[in-house]
Amino acid sequence: SASEKGGWDSFMDKEIHEDPEAVRNTLLGRVDLDGRLNLDELHIDENAFKSIDKIIVVACGTASYAGIVAKYAIEHWVRIPVEVELASEFRYRDPILTPRTLVVAISQSGETMDTLMALRHAREQGSKVLAICNTQGSSIPRESDAVLYTHAGPEIAVASTKAFLAQITAAYLLGLYLAQTKGTMYRDEIGNTLEALSQMPEKIQWVLDTQPQTIHDTARRMVDAHSFLFLGRHVGYPIALEGALKLKEIAYTFTEGFAAGELKHGPIALVDEGEPVVVIVPPARGRNILHAKVMSAIEEVQARGAFTIAVAEEGDEDVAQKADVVFWRPECPTLMSPLVDVVPLQLFAMDMAMLKHYDVDKPRNLAKSVTVE
Ligand code: G6P
Repeated sequence: SASEKGGWDSFMDKEIHEDPEAVRNTLLGRVDLDGRLNLDELHIDENAFKSIDKIIVVACGTASYAGIVAKYAIEHWVRIPVEVELASEFRYRDPILTPRTLVVAISQSGETMDTLMALRHAREQGSKVLAICNTQGSSIPRESDAVLYTHAGPEIAVASTKAFLAQITAAYLLGLYLAQTKGTMYRDEIGNTLEALSQMPEKIQWVLDTQPQTIHDTARRMVDAHSFLFLGRHVGYPIALEGALKLKEIAYTFTEGFAAGELKHGPIALVDEGEPVVVIVPPARGRNILHAKVMSAIEEVQARGAFTIAVAEEGDEDVAQKADVVFWRPECPTLMSPLVDVVPLQLFAMDMAMLKHYDVDKPRNLAKSVTVE
């Protein structure tokens, strides 16, 4: 009903506007006053944690993209390999699992059958499973050795939005906790990272407050486009995948998300006059080499007539000059940028679906939780 939507047009609209709260509530109570992470709730013995030498994230859809974001951060912080595997592929290929492998199952609903079967397989092989889940008491946390709940609140719209931000936040907390336990980061570094994380809700709010008009105008211009390409690098890569998935799910537009460096290895063949290309631009600060590389990807597609929509950091003059449209986001550390970069893409997909008069909360052919394999 309208009252359940709290005055918003749809649950998706409401839930996107809860992105800041989803991050804030997932952090709540997990950081001590002295800046130390407290995850006693995991009830995992510290020595067991110290001995972990590999992480495998298993998940589906949006949750799997949160896993890719987490891989970039956790490998950097903890210096152990992190693999991300689609749950549906995992158990059918005889994965290497030992008692020192931590399998992290990420799921909003906690009921996705592919993910549940993957975690059962991991436990049968003697690995520990930690669930990152948004639904209290659901099957996935019940069958896991430990659970770190995301506190995004109930998510009703089929297309996942706020839960994705909460999943990244929780996975970051897990990574920092491992770094704290294994001693792979200085205490100050962990404190600074937690501080940066705690500043993200207001930065997300800034996007929600300032960008909707540009996003809406762009959706109106693009509403008849037959396909979209999304590209990004580093943590911008999974965000490109997620932006592409959102648009596919609710606006029924053919999309492909890929790593910007792969452009020349195939996708550029698809670029023709007027093709919309959404580009997640990494920060330019510190002469970031990836910034220059992504800017040259923009030039490459523009030279073939593409219409470029950039998601970029405020003050990026290069982008302001080169891209056809820019969705701006506030300055933040690179590893935090997924939490702001995804927000305009959620809004954009919703606007596109609404302009086409589709049911944004209940897209055709999709279910909120898929309880069959
Ligand atoms: C379904 C939903 C997606 C979701 C995926 C994983 O396909 O339509 O939005 O990302 O399942 O769901 P989970 O509940 O495990 O996060």
